[in-house]
Amino acid sequence: MSDRKATLHVEGMDPIELPIYSGSTGPDVIDVRQLVSKGLFTYDPGFVSTASCESKITYIDGDNGILLHRGYAIEDLAANSNYLETCYLLVHGELPTAEQLEEFTANITNNTMVHEQLMHFFNGFRRDAHPMAIMCGVVGALSAFYHDQLDNSNPDHREKAIHRLIAKMPTLAAMCYKYSIGQPFIYPRDDLNYAENFLHMMFGKPTAESNIDPVLARAMDKIFMLHADHEQNASTSTVRLAGSSGANPFACIASGIAALWGPAHGGANEAVLDMLEEIGDVSNIDAFVAKAKDKNDPFRLMGFGHRVYKNFDPRATVMRETCDEVLELLGVENDPLLQIAKRLEQIALEDEYFIQRKLYPNVDFYSGIILKAIGIPTSMFTVIFALARTVGWISHWHEMLNSSYRIGRPRQLYTGEPQRSYPTK
Ligand code: SDX
Repeated sequence: MSDRKATLHVEGMDPIELPIYSGSTGPDVIDVRQLVSKGLFTYDPGFVSTASCESKITYIDGDNGILLHRGYAIEDLAANSNYLETCYLLVHGELPTAEQLEEFTANITNNTMVHEQLMHFFNGFRRDAHPMAIMCGVVGALSAFYHDQLDNSNPDHREKAIHRLIAKMPTLAAMCYKYSIGQPFIYPRDDLNYAENFLHMMFGKPTAESNIDPVLARAMDKIFMLHADHEQNASTSTVRLAGSSGANPFACIASGIAALWGPAHGGANEAVLDMLEEIGDVSNIDAFVAKAKDKNDPFRLMGFGHRVYKNFDPRATVMRETCDEVLELLGVENDPLLQIAKRLEQIALEDEYFIQRKLYPNVDFYSGIILKAIGIPTSMFTVIFALARTVGWISHWHEMLNSSYRIGRPRQLYTGEPQRSYPTK
């Protein structure tokens, strides 16, 4: 913190001195907490200029397309690390030693199964229920099975919840898919790594051994890494807000899943595929780009634009490379959707409307094409985003509970009716 100050001059009031704090990098912040005592609120719908908290987990530089997890660039982690090592880094703040990673991995492996009774929960849903609707329900319901270890003030309980959530999300996600196709649930295996286990539970059958392609497993692991955390995005802010009331970690993660579902946020990867399929052919791209630019048309180019990135989303760059690798391996490098996506990206990046607004492809633009190539149905795309982002959500929850925090309770600019009397009959 520094002794620098901002002075606010409000007509009819004495000047108000507001402290300015500097982080280790990124924009300085102005501490406005005293304003309420002066009868003033700040006004920032969508929190465009608001730092809601102090955090050490992830740093984003939107102008330069930089994403750091505990100081490590996402490109370095994607090239050299794996999802579970990245989980340890996000939760604990440092890369693990070999022993620490072995213990962490064992804790995750030992928690991959879910209570057998949870399977009955699935039976209450229609087979065609959207898997995100199921995930909102079953993840929140996990707290019904662990009510003896939900004391947020107990660090051991917090660590146990972190392990349980990272471990069980792939199991629950795969159960959503199996339930939707009427196939039996596949139990996790202790001899497979995190991504292999997920693909095993998704595509395995009780009638045959799983044959998991290591390249697809590596691509899946990389997709998990690229979605692991992203600062104070809408769903992470939702988790922090829920956690600030003292809600249990499973309920907090369920709130994050609900917030992620929207097409403006994590639901965009599913919306990108729907959009590419609706475009259908490169000859139709110009008409869709025109719709995206038309103020009177609610259509937006899914997978483009970002509140923070005003340059390439570094995750999209890595995702594009992974896309080329996977599709070439699968012999579908001429996938028509990929051709439409690449042509759409080229057209948009040359179009003044997108250039002027700094609208670039984001993490969701290419991920769906890889997931589709791996054989994952479009309706499961956001479930996979939620699976991967759980470590980010729970790391922020953990960081907040480890700091001095208050319940989040924003105020408002009220423009409704002043007090008025109930009309006498
Ligand atoms: C994620 O926050 C995170 O970190 C999220 C995320 C994460 O990892 O957690 O990165 C994941 O959510 C990525 C974003 C996925 N969403 C999409 O791809 C949906 C399409 N994108 C848009 O809905 C939009 O770009 C947002 C929601 C991502 C950002 O919205 P903002 O910051 O509120 O921007 P805006 O709506 O104020 O747009 C600014 C201008 C507007 O035009 P003008 O009014 O200035 O003329 O850009 C236009 C918008 O109309 N615009 C678009 C557009 N996105 C913005 N026009 C056409 N197509 C688009 N995609």
